[in-house]
Amino acid sequence: MSGDAPNPHLEGIPADTLRKVQTHLDQFQLPLEKLQEVSARLMKDLVRGLGKQTHHRAPVKMLPTFVRATPDGTERGDFLALDLGGTNFRVLHVRVEEQKVLKMDSQICAIPQSIMLGTGKQLFDHIAICLGEFLDSQNLKGKTLPLGFTFSFPCEQKEIDKSFLIRWTKGFNCSGVEGKDVVKLLKEAIERRGDYRIGSVAMVNDTVGTMMSCGYKDQSCEIGMIIGTGTNACYMEEMKNVKRVEGEDGRMCINTEWGGFGDDGSLKDIQTEFDIEVDKTSINPGVHIFEKMISGMYLGEIVRLVLVQLTQDKLLFEGQASEALLIPSKFQTKFISDIEDFSFHLLHLYQKYLWIQPNKNQITTKSSLYFYEKTKLCFTFLLQSGGSLHDWVIMKSFLSSMVVFCISCLCLWFRPDHGLENAQKVLTHLDLKWNLVDARVVRLVCDAVSSRSARLCATALATIANRIRANRGVAHLNTTVGVDGTVYRKHPNFSEELQATVRELAPECSITFLVSEDGSGKGAAMVTAVAQRLASQSRL
Ligand code: GLC
Repeated sequence: MSGDAPNPHLEGIPADTLRKVQTHLDQFQLPLEKLQEVSARLMKDLVRGLGKQTHHRAPVKMLPTFVRATPDGTERGDFLALDLGGTNFRVLHVRVEEQKVLKMDSQICAIPQSIMLGTGKQLFDHIAICLGEFLDSQNLKGKTLPLGFTFSFPCEQKEIDKSFLIRWTKGFNCSGVEGKDVVKLLKEAIERRGDYRIGSVAMVNDTVGTMMSCGYKDQSCEIGMIIGTGTNACYMEEMKNVKRVEGEDGRMCINTEWGGFGDDGSLKDIQTEFDIEVDKTSINPGVHIFEKMISGMYLGEIVRLVLVQLTQDKLLFEGQASEALLIPSKFQTKFISDIEDFSFHLLHLYQKYLWIQPNKNQITTKSSLYFYEKTKLCFTFLLQSGGSLHDWVIMKSFLSSMVVFCISCLCLWFRPDHGLENAQKVLTHLDLKWNLVDARVVRLVCDAVSSRSARLCATALATIANRIRANRGVAHLNTTVGVDGTVYRKHPNFSEELQATVRELAPECSITFLVSEDGSGKGAAMVTAVAQRLASQSRL
């Protein structure tokens, strides 16, 4: 956490314990100058990834997606969408009509670990079975609908329907798929069944789906970002810079695969001993180093490793770890969000700045930053009459934050210890014998790890925004980012910290953040719809 103002997480921790805990947590603090340095390194890597001669060895893959246009609102029709990228697989029936993308119906199928780590044939047969069952249940088996396939892994795309898996990430490791055309594997599995057919296929990464689903609402949406199980972003790059694809005119969406940043060792100076351990014990050591410092698949494990270390140093739980704490992955990333319950931050603001110490100049802690941002956005809204979509989104978010704020104040009134209950619940769940200081230290650890994640992600996003601005040669860039992912959506103050850091790192860019509504599902259908529109226009 930056700034000189008192850090609410430090209260109630004895000075000596705090000093020792901080020696471990200092590794997670990344000052602005460090983030600027990291951003400069990433900028170089983006260029390496785009270059014809340099892309083979580039850690940030910068993959052309063959998506050359965002929606213009004239797209129409019925589509199927498949979404594979996490522990579940989804099938959707989507209708695109008059400025709307409607999800008609959908079905979720679990992907058991045995399939995630089995053969490619098993995986694609499983997908074909789920799709078949869905078509049956929707009476769609006789129709041949175009299909958008969101496949959220790094792929070397040759055309919109030809896409070769570079490598698995996020815990998948099915044999015989790396280096193969994933669309072909899907079609072959469907042919093996022979009881239904699909139309033309468009392959997309989830970042692209997210950008496209937001692009229907806001045509200035030209970046898609995911901070969930994994992390990644795509953006619209000038064709003249995409050296691997023929043609100089217009733009193409590039899937950056920024999770791979650092795979050549360029992030060694900011990797902590805990990051190194997480990487070493993962199923793909050395791969997706940046992602392993940021995304939901790894954050909980980083926190767990820090807690184990602090317990060994007798700074937690009187030096007694439970069996559960010693089991890898037992500390879920969701626990971090629970523990950092945001009412606590608002509460602290009330206590520190408005009620006990009214000092308006100290707007530096997360809680005050949050309140300050919401208030500023609200005033912006009030000043700009006319109420566009974004203003309403802002106003709604402001009002909901006010409701939480009032509830928090009431809680403080009745329960001075409010804010630690979630930490206590999690520690009890992990069979740990805790006291209040332990709960406070654990919250401090969660804050350090999630805060670094938000700031690193902001650094990468700012780098892309700065690149788009330079590409366009404009003094100021207004742009929109479509965002999705559980970490961004569920963590209480991740989005605020990310946005505030982006503003510091890309001061010449005004970025609107639009949380995508089911980008991976509806977005894939959108890509298919845009591809069809372009194809029919070129036939005219
Ligand atoms: C991983 C995948 C990437 C995906 C991201 C978010 O980084 O490699 O393709 O976009 O996770 O799901």
